[in-house]
Amino acid sequence: MGRNLANGYALVTGGAGFIGCNLVERLLGIGREVVVLDNFSRKGSERNAEWLASLKSLGSLRIVCGDVRDTGLVEPLISGANQIFHLAAQVAVTSSLETPTVDFDVNARGTLTVLEAIRRLSSPPSLLFTSTNKVYGALSSFAVRATDMRCELEDAELRERGFGENQPLDFHSPYGCSKGAADQYVLDYARSFAIPTLVFRMSCIYGPHQWGNEDQGWVAHFLMSARKGAPITIYGDGRQVRDLLFVGDLVDAMVLAQSSAHDLAGRAFNIGGGPRNTASLLQVIAQLEKLLGWAPEVRFQGARIGDQRYYVSDVSRFSQATGWRPGVSVGEGLRRMIAWLDSVGCEGMRRPGPVALGAEGR
Ligand SMILES: NC(=O)c1ccc[n+]([C@@H]2O[C@H](COP(=O)([O-])OP(=O)(O)OC[C@H]3O[C@@H](n4cnc5c(N)ncnc54)[C@H](O)[C@@H]3O)[C@@H](O)[C@H]2O)c1
Repeated sequence: MGRNLANGYALVTGGAGFIGCNLVERLLGIGREVVVLDNFSRKGSERNAEWLASLKSLGSLRIVCGDVRDTGLVEPLISGANQIFHLAAQVAVTSSLETPTVDFDVNARGTLTVLEAIRRLSSPPSLLFTSTNKVYGALSSFAVRATDMRCELEDAELRERGFGENQPLDFHSPYGCSKGAADQYVLDYARSFAIPTLVFRMSCIYGPHQWGNEDQGWVAHFLMSARKGAPITIYGDGRQVRDLLFVGDLVDAMVLAQSSAHDLAGRAFNIGGGPRNTASLLQVIAQLEKLLGWAPEVRFQGARIGDQRYYVSDVSRFSQATGWRPGVSVGEGLRRMIAWLDSVGCEGMRRPGPVALGAEGR
């Protein structure tokens, strides 16, 4: 079970990002001392950090501006932590195709820098790493059929439960490779060095503080564009299906995972909305039309290479281990996101002109 957390703080790398800042808010709310390490390379992260700073009364928070590859900075930060959430990453498939070495450096070497700093400690903190469903590749050998608004898996059993962790690894795109390598290192450090590490292989996460753009964070990008009346470009026919997980549900899972890290060490878990929270791009747009009261303009372009046609997580391994289940429906999650955008406004968060997006940016 969980270690005594009396000494040490929770370190959240990438803590000013979308998922990171939601996690930090929760950790502060449950009384944890938190240190954030973020280099603010993601547009919107400064805004998230300002929001976090405004929450300081909730608890103890320190925000360090720096790079996860900087050993001299990372080592002392890790030595004072008793839980580490490693989220800092180059997150876009598109950018990874443009500069694969940068992608590798941040995602693979950055993760190894964190792991090595942990390995040097006599009482190593637990580590949760945020991996991706991209490690399972395009999954193109599974037959799908198109219906009006979405595609469906032909295999009824698989459709019912989703893809599990026994799915063979098949890294696609430089992003898939760098995250996949990091995923495997994190698991191996539990095996080789008895460090309490675990991996979440995450599907599409959405929610407040997600400053989505054309490369990553497509649900937020849809919403922000629709609110501004900007056209949405879909790559492919829009029938691609994902399981969507509201960020609050993910944060629940992350906190639970860390509290049982010593029992769960060395294991990977598929984490997403699961079979009950699936939607195609077209279905998300249809939901938006209902919620906003008008139809966003949609344009279509050819499908992007490597975009999974259908991916839905089987979350039962983590559910059985911890009792966790996704609680927020897609409709309710979108409603909460719209309420958040209404409260903060989103002007200036994207370049003018048509919006281009697919479902592959995760
Ligand atoms: N959002 C999703 O749907 C999704 C799905 C699967 C996996 N993930 C993973 O979850 C994690 C968080 O994703 P997110 O959606 O919150 O992305 P995000 O871009 O909002 O957050 C990542 C944060 O890391 C920071 N960062 C980037 N490079 C860094 C570096 N070298 N040093 C320090 N900080 C750095 C960025 O400034 C940013 O604040 C990532 O590891 C991502 O690969 C996200």
